[in-house]
Amino acid sequence: MAEKMIVIGSDHGGFELKEAIKALLRERGLAVEDMGTRDGNSVDYPDFGERVARKVSSGEAELGVLVCGTGIGMSIVANKFPGVRAALAADPYMAKMAKQHNNANILVLGGRVLDENEASEMVATWLDARFEGGRHQGRLDKIAALEKELYK
Ligand code: RB5
Repeated sequence: MAEKMIVIGSDHGGFELKEAIKALLRERGLAVEDMGTRDGNSVDYPDFGERVARKVSSGEAELGVLVCGTGIGMSIVANKFPGVRAALAADPYMAKMAKQHNNANILVLGGRVLDENEASEMVATWLDARFEGGRHQGRLDKIAALEKELYK
């Protein structure tokens, strides 16, 4: 089976946490593509959110992780892209639900909100959780139908 590919990105507010998560993903044996930023210098979060969301939207990457200061800006950007379901999670329960109910293909975290341990637990929980389908699939179908109507 092809290796699961994850893209990751951040702005300066999420840089340190992004680096920690990248290491964790690689420890888990996942192929990670880092779309930047490369240091803590100030940058604009839409530029990096776009890079990650494009890869997930096009199917080039199965999953993505985005980090900015709060996670809010990154989630706003990522959810502009068709097929992207970016979930801003604040704790492990939300990270688990993001997969079980929403089948989130991008997990968004706040680098100034979470500590590294908490964030690592959230990433692991999201990766390990399984989408429940059923009625939840019906709801995702409604979102996909909205995208079709709005973006034609
Ligand atoms: C950068 O200062 C900050 O605005 C950004 O990281 C993010 O929190 C935006 O939503």
